[in-house]
Amino acid sequence: MRVDIGNALAATARPGVSADALDRLDDRVAAAHDRIADGMADSEFGYAALNLPETADPAAVEAAVEPLADADTLLTVGIGGSALGAATLVDALGDGLDYHALDNVDPAHVRDLLADLDLADTVVHVVSRSGTTAETLANFLVVRDAMADAGVDWTERTLVTTGVEGNLRDLADDHGLPVLDAPEGVPGRFSALSTVALPAAALAGVDLDELLAGAAAGRDALSGSLYDCPAYAYGAVAYALDVRGASVNAMLPYAEGLETFAEWFAQLWAESLGKDGLGQTPARALGATDQHSQLQLYRAGPRDKLVTMVRPESRPDCAIPETDLDGLDYLAGGDLGGLLDAEFEATEASLAESGVPSVRVELPAVDAHSLGRLLFDIEAACVLAGELYGVETFTQPAVEWGKDAARGLLRGEADLPEKDVLVVE
Ligand code: PA5
Repeated sequence: MRVDIGNALAATARPGVSADALDRLDDRVAAAHDRIADGMADSEFGYAALNLPETADPAAVEAAVEPLADADTLLTVGIGGSALGAATLVDALGDGLDYHALDNVDPAHVRDLLADLDLADTVVHVVSRSGTTAETLANFLVVRDAMADAGVDWTERTLVTTGVEGNLRDLADDHGLPVLDAPEGVPGRFSALSTVALPAAALAGVDLDELLAGAAAGRDALSGSLYDCPAYAYGAVAYALDVRGASVNAMLPYAEGLETFAEWFAQLWAESLGKDGLGQTPARALGATDQHSQLQLYRAGPRDKLVTMVRPESRPDCAIPETDLDGLDYLAGGDLGGLLDAEFEATEASLAESGVPSVRVELPAVDAHSLGRLLFDIEAACVLAGELYGVETFTQPAVEWGKDAARGLLRGEADLPEKDVLVVE
Protein backbone atom coordinates (compact mmCIF):
# COMPACT_ATOMS: atom_id res chain seq x y z
CA MET A 1 0.00 0.00 0.00
CA ARG A 2 1.26 3.48 -0.84
CA VAL A 3 0.28 6.60 1.04
CA ASP A 4 1.09 10.00 -0.43
CA ILE A 5 0.83 12.79 2.15
CA GLY A 6 2.27 15.53 -0.06
CA ASN A 7 -1.05 17.33 -0.42
CA ALA A 8 -1.47 17.47 3.37
CA LEU A 9 1.66 19.56 3.88
CA ALA A 10 1.47 23.22 4.82
CA ALA A 11 3.21 24.16 1.57
CA THR A 12 0.02 23.10 -0.26
CA ALA A 13 -2.82 22.98 2.19
CA ARG A 14 -4.68 24.97 4.83
CA PRO A 15 -4.92 23.41 7.32
CA GLY A 16 -1.67 21.68 6.57
CA VAL A 17 1.21 20.28 8.56
CA SER A 18 4.69 21.74 8.12
CA ALA A 19 7.67 19.53 7.42
CA ASP A 20 9.20 20.58 10.77
CA ALA A 21 6.04 19.72 12.67
CA LEU A 22 5.91 16.34 10.96
CA ASP A 23 9.52 15.66 12.02
CA ARG A 24 8.63 16.54 15.61
CA LEU A 25 5.54 14.35 15.43
CA ASP A 26 7.70 11.49 14.24
CA ASP A 27 9.33 11.34 17.70
CA ARG A 28 5.89 10.81 19.19
CA VAL A 29 5.15 8.17 16.54
CA ALA A 30 8.28 6.28 17.64
CA ALA A 31 7.09 6.29 21.27
CA ALA A 32 3.56 5.29 20.23
CA HIS A 33 4.94 2.47 18.12
CA ASP A 34 6.82 1.11 21.16
CA ARG A 35 3.58 1.16 23.13
CA ILE A 36 1.72 -0.59 20.29
CA ALA A 37 4.46 -3.21 19.91
CA ASP A 38 4.33 -3.93 23.67
CA GLY A 39 0.54 -4.23 23.54
CA MET A 40 0.78 -6.64 20.60
CA ALA A 41 3.50 -8.71 22.31
CA ASP A 42 1.32 -9.09 25.43
CA SER A 43 -1.92 -9.51 23.41
CA GLU A 44 -3.43 -6.68 25.45
CA PHE A 45 -7.08 -5.85 24.91
CA GLY A 46 -7.44 -4.07 21.58
CA TYR A 47 -3.79 -4.33 20.56
CA ALA A 48 -4.48 -8.06 20.08
CA ALA A 49 -6.38 -7.06 16.92
CA LEU A 50 -3.08 -6.30 15.23
CA ASN A 51 -2.01 -9.92 15.84
CA LEU A 52 -4.94 -11.33 13.83
CA PRO A 53 -2.81 -11.95 10.72
CA GLU A 54 -1.14 -14.72 12.72
CA THR A 55 -3.78 -15.66 15.31
CA ALA A 56 -6.71 -16.02 12.91
CA ASP A 57 -7.29 -19.62 11.86
CA PRO A 58 -8.53 -19.65 8.26
CA ALA A 59 -8.62 -23.46 8.13
CA ALA A 60 -11.01 -23.57 11.10
CA VAL A 61 -13.24 -20.99 9.40
CA GLU A 62 -13.23 -22.94 6.12
CA ALA A 63 -14.12 -26.11 8.02
CA ALA A 64 -16.99 -24.38 9.85
CA VAL A 65 -18.58 -23.04 6.67
CA GLU A 66 -18.00 -26.15 4.57
CA PRO A 67 -21.32 -27.85 5.53
CA LEU A 68 -23.15 -24.63 4.55
CA ALA A 69 -21.33 -23.90 1.34
CA ASP A 70 -24.11 -25.13 -0.96
CA ALA A 71 -26.36 -22.12 -0.17
CA ASP A 72 -26.71 -19.34 -2.71
CA THR A 73 -27.68 -16.71 -0.12
CA LEU A 74 -25.93 -15.58 3.04
CA LEU A 75 -27.51 -13.44 5.70
CA THR A 76 -25.24 -11.95 8.35
CA VAL A 77 -27.24 -11.02 11.45
CA GLY A 78 -25.16 -8.63 13.52
CA ILE A 79 -24.61 -4.89 13.97
CA GLY A 80 -21.71 -2.43 14.03
CA GLY A 81 -18.40 -4.25 14.18
CA SER A 82 -20.25 -7.56 14.00
CA ALA A 83 -21.61 -6.76 10.54
CA LEU A 84 -19.49 -4.16 8.77
CA GLY A 85 -16.32 -6.24 8.39
CA ALA A 86 -18.20 -9.03 6.65
CA ALA A 87 -20.11 -6.59 4.45
CA THR A 88 -16.86 -4.82 3.51
CA LEU A 89 -15.14 -8.06 2.51
CA VAL A 90 -18.07 -9.50 0.58
CA ASP A 91 -18.95 -6.25 -1.18
CA ALA A 92 -15.34 -5.78 -2.30
CA LEU A 93 -14.41 -9.35 -3.12
CA GLY A 94 -17.50 -11.57 -3.19
CA ASP A 95 -17.94 -13.78 -6.22
CA GLY A 96 -21.67 -13.55 -6.79
CA LEU A 97 -23.05 -14.95 -3.54
CA ASP A 98 -26.37 -13.26 -2.80
CA TYR A 99 -25.33 -11.41 0.35
CA HIS A 100 -27.33 -9.46 2.93
CA ALA A 101 -26.36 -7.97 6.26
CA LEU A 102 -29.26 -7.59 8.63
CA ASP A 103 -28.19 -5.02 11.19
CA ASN A 104 -31.02 -2.59 11.72
CA VAL A 105 -34.33 -3.55 13.32
CA ASP A 106 -36.56 -1.53 11.04
CA PRO A 107 -39.61 -3.81 10.77
CA ALA A 108 -40.41 -2.66 7.23
CA HIS A 109 -36.93 -3.59 6.04
CA VAL A 110 -36.79 -6.89 7.93
CA ARG A 111 -40.17 -8.01 6.62
CA ASP A 112 -39.35 -7.01 3.04
CA LEU A 113 -36.00 -8.77 3.14
CA LEU A 114 -37.39 -11.99 4.58
CA ALA A 115 -40.21 -11.97 2.04
CA ASP A 116 -37.66 -11.68 -0.78
CA LEU A 117 -35.25 -14.41 0.37
CA ASP A 118 -35.46 -18.06 -0.57
CA LEU A 119 -35.03 -19.18 3.04
CA ALA A 120 -34.49 -22.82 2.08
CA ASP A 121 -31.40 -21.69 0.19
CA THR A 122 -30.14 -19.25 2.83
CA VAL A 123 -27.37 -19.60 5.41
CA VAL A 124 -27.56 -17.39 8.49
CA HIS A 125 -24.41 -16.25 10.27
CA VAL A 126 -25.34 -14.68 13.60
CA VAL A 127 -22.60 -12.57 15.11
CA SER A 128 -22.41 -10.87 18.48
CA ARG A 129 -19.21 -10.63 20.45
CA SER A 130 -21.05 -9.81 23.68
CA GLY A 131 -23.92 -12.12 22.83
CA THR A 132 -26.29 -9.59 24.38
CA THR A 133 -26.97 -6.98 21.69
CA ALA A 134 -30.72 -6.46 21.48
CA GLU A 135 -30.92 -5.71 17.76
CA THR A 136 -28.99 -8.84 16.80
CA LEU A 137 -30.88 -11.17 19.11
CA ALA A 138 -34.26 -9.77 18.14
CA ASN A 139 -33.47 -10.00 14.42
CA PHE A 140 -32.24 -13.56 14.80
CA LEU A 141 -35.40 -14.60 16.65
CA VAL A 142 -37.45 -13.14 13.78
CA VAL A 143 -35.30 -14.81 11.13
CA ARG A 144 -35.37 -18.26 12.71
CA ASP A 145 -39.15 -18.05 13.09
CA ALA A 146 -39.48 -17.12 9.43
CA MET A 147 -37.29 -20.09 8.50
CA ALA A 148 -39.37 -22.43 10.64
CA ASP A 149 -42.57 -21.04 9.05
CA ALA A 150 -41.06 -21.78 5.65
CA GLY A 151 -40.46 -25.38 6.71
CA VAL A 152 -36.69 -24.93 6.97
CA ASP A 153 -34.70 -26.53 9.79
CA TRP A 154 -32.93 -23.35 10.87
CA THR A 155 -30.59 -25.26 13.18
CA GLU A 156 -29.07 -26.85 10.06
CA ARG A 157 -28.62 -23.49 8.30
CA THR A 158 -27.19 -21.35 11.11
CA LEU A 159 -23.62 -20.61 12.16
CA VAL A 160 -22.87 -18.51 15.24
CA THR A 161 -19.87 -16.37 16.19
CA THR A 162 -19.92 -15.15 19.78
CA GLY A 163 -17.96 -14.82 23.01
CA VAL A 164 -17.71 -17.43 25.74
CA GLU A 165 -20.88 -16.30 27.48
CA GLY A 166 -24.04 -14.30 26.80
CA ASN A 167 -27.55 -14.90 25.50
CA LEU A 168 -26.36 -15.92 22.05
CA ARG A 169 -23.95 -18.51 23.47
CA ASP A 170 -26.81 -19.93 25.59
CA LEU A 171 -29.12 -20.03 22.58
CA ALA A 172 -26.48 -21.80 20.48
CA ASP A 173 -25.80 -24.33 23.25
CA ASP A 174 -29.52 -25.01 23.74
CA HIS A 175 -29.96 -25.85 20.06
CA GLY A 176 -26.60 -27.47 19.38
CA LEU A 177 -25.66 -24.80 16.81
CA PRO A 178 -22.10 -24.72 15.46
CA VAL A 179 -20.19 -21.87 17.11
CA LEU A 180 -16.97 -20.08 16.28
CA ASP A 181 -15.44 -18.19 19.19
CA ALA A 182 -15.10 -14.44 18.76
CA PRO A 183 -11.41 -13.60 19.15
CA GLU A 184 -10.31 -12.66 22.64
CA GLY A 185 -9.19 -9.11 23.22
CA VAL A 186 -10.47 -7.80 19.87
CA PRO A 187 -13.19 -5.10 19.89
CA GLY A 188 -15.92 -5.58 17.29
CA ARG A 189 -14.80 -2.81 14.94
CA PHE A 190 -11.27 -4.31 14.79
CA SER A 191 -12.50 -7.85 14.12
CA ALA A 192 -12.85 -7.95 10.32
CA LEU A 193 -9.92 -10.36 9.98
CA SER A 194 -11.33 -12.89 12.46
CA THR A 195 -14.14 -15.42 12.97
CA VAL A 196 -16.48 -12.41 12.99
CA ALA A 197 -16.17 -11.66 9.26
CA LEU A 198 -14.09 -14.43 7.73
CA PRO A 199 -16.98 -16.95 7.53
CA ALA A 200 -18.92 -14.61 5.25
CA ALA A 201 -15.81 -13.99 3.20
CA ALA A 202 -15.15 -17.73 2.89
CA LEU A 203 -18.72 -18.40 1.76
CA ALA A 204 -18.35 -15.62 -0.80
CA GLY A 205 -15.28 -17.30 -2.26
CA VAL A 206 -12.64 -14.95 -0.84
CA ASP A 207 -9.15 -16.42 -0.52
CA LEU A 208 -8.65 -16.13 3.25
CA ASP A 209 -4.95 -16.98 3.09
CA GLU A 210 -4.32 -14.13 0.65
CA LEU A 211 -6.41 -11.76 2.75
CA LEU A 212 -4.42 -12.58 5.87
CA ALA A 213 -1.15 -12.49 3.94
CA GLY A 214 -1.98 -8.93 2.94
CA ALA A 215 -2.69 -8.06 6.57
CA ALA A 216 0.58 -9.73 7.61
CA ALA A 217 2.43 -7.51 5.12
CA GLY A 218 0.91 -4.52 6.93
CA ARG A 219 2.00 -5.86 10.29
CA ASP A 220 5.53 -6.47 9.00
CA ALA A 221 5.66 -2.89 7.73
CA LEU A 222 4.94 -1.34 11.15
CA SER A 223 8.00 0.64 12.18
CA GLY A 224 8.96 3.44 14.52
CA SER A 225 8.82 6.17 11.87
CA LEU A 226 5.90 7.55 9.90
CA TYR A 227 8.30 8.05 6.99
CA ASP A 228 8.79 4.27 6.72
CA CYS A 229 5.30 3.02 7.46
CA PRO A 230 2.24 3.84 5.32
CA ALA A 231 -0.20 3.01 8.12
CA TYR A 232 1.49 5.36 10.57
CA ALA A 233 1.95 8.05 7.91
CA TYR A 234 -1.82 8.06 7.45
CA GLY A 235 -2.68 7.92 11.16
CA ALA A 236 -0.16 10.62 12.08
CA VAL A 237 -1.18 13.00 9.31
CA ALA A 238 -4.90 12.56 9.99
CA TYR A 239 -4.24 13.35 13.66
CA ALA A 240 -1.98 16.32 12.86
CA LEU A 241 -4.53 17.81 10.48
CA ASP A 242 -7.36 17.32 12.95
CA VAL A 243 -5.57 19.24 15.68
CA ARG A 244 -4.93 21.99 13.10
CA GLY A 245 -8.61 22.23 12.20
CA ALA A 246 -9.44 19.39 9.78
CA SER A 247 -12.06 17.97 12.10
CA VAL A 248 -13.78 16.04 9.28
CA ASN A 249 -12.17 13.15 7.42
CA ALA A 250 -13.97 12.36 4.17
CA MET A 251 -13.21 8.84 2.97
CA LEU A 252 -13.47 8.86 -0.82
CA PRO A 253 -12.66 5.54 -2.51
CA TYR A 254 -12.63 5.44 -6.32
CA ALA A 255 -13.88 1.86 -6.64
CA GLU A 256 -17.48 0.77 -6.28
CA GLY A 257 -16.34 -2.36 -4.41
CA LEU A 258 -14.87 -0.15 -1.68
CA GLU A 259 -18.05 1.79 -0.93
CA THR A 260 -18.74 -0.36 2.14
CA PHE A 261 -15.11 0.03 3.16
CA ALA A 262 -15.87 3.73 3.66
CA GLU A 263 -18.69 2.75 6.00
CA TRP A 264 -16.38 0.38 7.90
CA PHE A 265 -13.81 3.19 8.15
CA ALA A 266 -16.42 5.57 9.50
CA GLN A 267 -17.28 3.20 12.33
CA LEU A 268 -13.66 2.46 13.16
CA TRP A 269 -12.60 6.11 13.19
CA ALA A 270 -15.65 7.45 15.05
CA GLU A 271 -16.09 4.79 17.70
CA SER A 272 -12.38 4.45 18.44
CA LEU A 273 -11.29 8.09 18.49
CA GLY A 274 -14.42 10.01 19.48
CA LYS A 275 -13.68 10.49 23.18
CA ASP A 276 -12.92 13.18 25.75
CA GLY A 277 -14.03 15.94 23.39
CA LEU A 278 -11.54 14.72 20.77
CA GLY A 279 -11.78 12.81 17.50
CA GLN A 280 -12.20 13.46 13.81
CA THR A 281 -15.67 13.09 12.28
CA PRO A 282 -15.62 10.59 9.39
CA ALA A 283 -17.67 11.25 6.27
CA ARG A 284 -18.49 8.61 3.66
CA ALA A 285 -18.30 9.27 -0.04
CA LEU A 286 -17.68 7.46 -3.32
CA GLY A 287 -15.75 8.61 -6.35
CA ALA A 288 -16.64 9.59 -8.99
CA THR A 289 -20.31 9.72 -7.89
CA ASP A 290 -19.79 12.23 -5.09
CA GLN A 291 -17.77 14.56 -7.29
CA HIS A 292 -21.22 15.53 -8.48
CA SER A 293 -22.46 16.34 -4.99
CA GLN A 294 -20.16 16.52 -1.96
CA LEU A 295 -17.06 17.76 -3.80
CA GLN A 296 -18.57 21.25 -3.96
CA LEU A 297 -18.54 21.38 -0.16
CA TYR A 298 -15.13 19.74 0.17
CA ARG A 299 -13.52 22.29 -2.11
CA ALA A 300 -15.41 25.45 -1.29
CA GLY A 301 -17.03 24.88 2.10
CA PRO A 302 -15.56 25.32 5.58
CA ARG A 303 -11.82 24.69 5.89
CA ASP A 304 -12.37 21.77 8.25
CA LYS A 305 -11.72 18.75 6.06
CA LEU A 306 -9.16 16.16 5.14
CA VAL A 307 -10.14 14.17 2.04
CA THR A 308 -8.75 10.64 1.94
CA MET A 309 -8.68 9.43 -1.66
CA VAL A 310 -8.30 5.68 -2.20
CA ARG A 311 -7.84 3.91 -5.52
CA PRO A 312 -6.59 0.63 -6.96
CA GLU A 313 -3.68 0.87 -9.39
CA SER A 314 -5.21 -1.71 -11.68
CA ARG A 315 -8.82 -2.20 -12.70
CA PRO A 316 -10.69 -4.61 -14.98
CA ASP A 317 -10.90 -3.56 -18.63
CA CYS A 318 -14.08 -1.99 -19.92
CA ALA A 319 -13.50 -0.24 -23.23
CA ILE A 320 -15.59 2.78 -24.18
CA PRO A 321 -17.03 2.10 -27.65
CA GLU A 322 -16.00 4.28 -30.56
CA THR A 323 -18.46 6.94 -31.56
CA ASP A 324 -18.53 9.53 -34.30
CA LEU A 325 -20.58 11.94 -32.22
CA ASP A 326 -19.12 15.43 -32.33
CA GLY A 327 -17.22 16.45 -29.23
CA LEU A 328 -16.74 12.98 -27.77
CA ASP A 329 -13.39 12.28 -29.40
CA TYR A 330 -11.67 12.56 -25.99
CA LEU A 331 -13.45 9.35 -24.95
CA ALA A 332 -12.71 7.47 -28.15
CA GLY A 333 -10.60 4.39 -27.69
CA GLY A 334 -10.61 4.93 -23.94
CA ASP A 335 -11.61 2.75 -21.05
CA LEU A 336 -13.91 3.33 -18.07
CA GLY A 337 -10.99 2.66 -15.69
CA GLY A 338 -8.97 5.37 -17.41
CA LEU A 339 -11.90 7.76 -17.08
CA LEU A 340 -12.27 6.96 -13.37
CA ASP A 341 -8.55 7.54 -12.84
CA ALA A 342 -8.79 10.85 -14.66
CA GLU A 343 -11.67 11.82 -12.38
CA PHE A 344 -9.56 10.85 -9.34
CA GLU A 345 -6.60 12.93 -10.46
CA ALA A 346 -8.77 15.87 -11.43
CA THR A 347 -10.44 15.86 -8.03
CA GLU A 348 -7.14 15.61 -6.21
CA ALA A 349 -5.80 18.53 -8.26
CA SER A 350 -8.97 20.51 -7.70
CA LEU A 351 -8.65 20.10 -3.93
CA ALA A 352 -4.96 21.00 -4.00
CA GLU A 353 -5.63 24.04 -6.15
CA SER A 354 -7.95 25.42 -3.52
CA GLY A 355 -5.65 24.34 -0.66
CA VAL A 356 -7.85 21.58 0.80
CA PRO A 357 -5.67 18.83 2.31
CA SER A 358 -5.93 15.36 0.84
CA VAL A 359 -4.09 12.08 1.24
CA ARG A 360 -3.75 9.59 -1.58
CA VAL A 361 -3.92 5.88 -0.66
CA GLU A 362 -3.12 3.44 -3.48
CA LEU A 363 -3.56 -0.34 -3.55
CA PRO A 364 -2.32 -2.65 -6.29
CA ALA A 365 -5.89 -3.84 -6.97
CA VAL A 366 -9.20 -4.56 -5.28
CA ASP A 367 -8.16 -8.11 -4.45
CA ALA A 368 -7.83 -10.22 -1.31
CA HIS A 369 -4.19 -9.37 -0.61
CA SER A 370 -4.68 -5.63 -1.06
CA LEU A 371 -7.87 -5.52 0.98
CA GLY A 372 -6.22 -7.41 3.85
CA ARG A 373 -3.44 -4.84 3.74
CA LEU A 374 -5.84 -1.91 3.55
CA LEU A 375 -7.96 -3.05 6.52
CA PHE A 376 -4.90 -3.83 8.63
CA ASP A 377 -3.18 -0.55 7.82
CA ILE A 378 -6.25 1.55 8.54
CA GLU A 379 -6.69 -0.26 11.86
CA ALA A 380 -3.02 0.36 12.70
CA ALA A 381 -3.44 4.00 11.65
CA CYS A 382 -6.40 4.28 14.00
CA VAL A 383 -4.50 2.70 16.90
CA LEU A 384 -1.62 5.09 16.30
CA ALA A 385 -3.96 8.08 16.17
CA GLY A 386 -5.53 6.92 19.43
CA GLU A 387 -2.08 6.90 21.06
CA LEU A 388 -1.36 10.41 19.74
CA TYR A 389 -4.72 11.74 20.99
CA GLY A 390 -4.22 9.91 24.30
CA VAL A 391 -7.72 8.37 24.22
CA GLU A 392 -8.92 4.87 25.07
CA THR A 393 -9.13 3.62 21.50
CA PHE A 394 -10.62 0.23 22.33
CA THR A 395 -13.57 1.17 24.53
CA GLN A 396 -16.96 2.56 23.48
CA PRO A 397 -18.73 3.81 26.62
CA ALA A 398 -21.19 5.97 24.67
CA VAL A 399 -22.26 2.98 22.58
CA GLU A 400 -22.64 0.82 25.70
CA TRP A 401 -24.68 3.57 27.39
CA GLY A 402 -27.15 3.50 24.54
CA LYS A 403 -27.36 -0.30 24.54
CA ASP A 404 -28.06 -0.39 28.29
CA ALA A 405 -30.62 2.40 28.06
CA ALA A 406 -32.54 0.66 25.26
CA ARG A 407 -32.61 -2.60 27.21
CA GLY A 408 -33.73 -0.68 30.31
CA LEU A 409 -36.57 0.96 28.38
CA LEU A 410 -37.79 -2.38 27.08
CA ARG A 411 -37.69 -3.85 30.58
CA GLY A 412 -39.45 -0.79 31.98
CA GLU A 413 -36.45 -0.11 34.21
CA ALA A 414 -34.75 2.80 32.44
CA ASP A 415 -34.11 5.95 34.40
CA LEU A 416 -33.42 8.31 31.51
CA PRO A 417 -32.82 12.03 32.15
CA GLU A 418 -35.85 14.31 31.59
CA LYS A 419 -35.79 15.81 28.12
CA ASP A 420 -36.83 19.33 27.22
CA VAL A 421 -39.84 19.43 24.91
CA LEU A 422 -40.61 22.15 22.38
CA VAL A 423 -43.15 20.72 19.96
CA VAL A 424 -44.06 22.48 16.71
CA GLU A 425 -46.86 20.89 14.67
O1 PA5 B 1 -17.06 -2.06 17.79
C1 PA5 B 1 -17.87 -2.33 18.65
O2 PA5 B 1 -17.53 -2.72 19.78
C2 PA5 B 1 -19.35 -2.24 18.39
O3 PA5 B 1 -19.63 -1.62 17.19
C3 PA5 B 1 -19.96 -3.63 18.37
O4 PA5 B 1 -19.38 -4.37 17.33
C4 PA5 B 1 -21.48 -3.59 18.19
O5 PA5 B 1 -22.06 -2.80 19.18
C5 PA5 B 1 -22.06 -4.99 18.26
O6 PA5 B 1 -21.70 -5.61 19.47
P1 PA5 B 1 -21.80 -7.15 19.65
O7 PA5 B 1 -20.84 -7.80 18.73
O8 PA5 B 1 -21.43 -7.38 21.08
O9 PA5 B 1 -23.21 -7.56 19.35
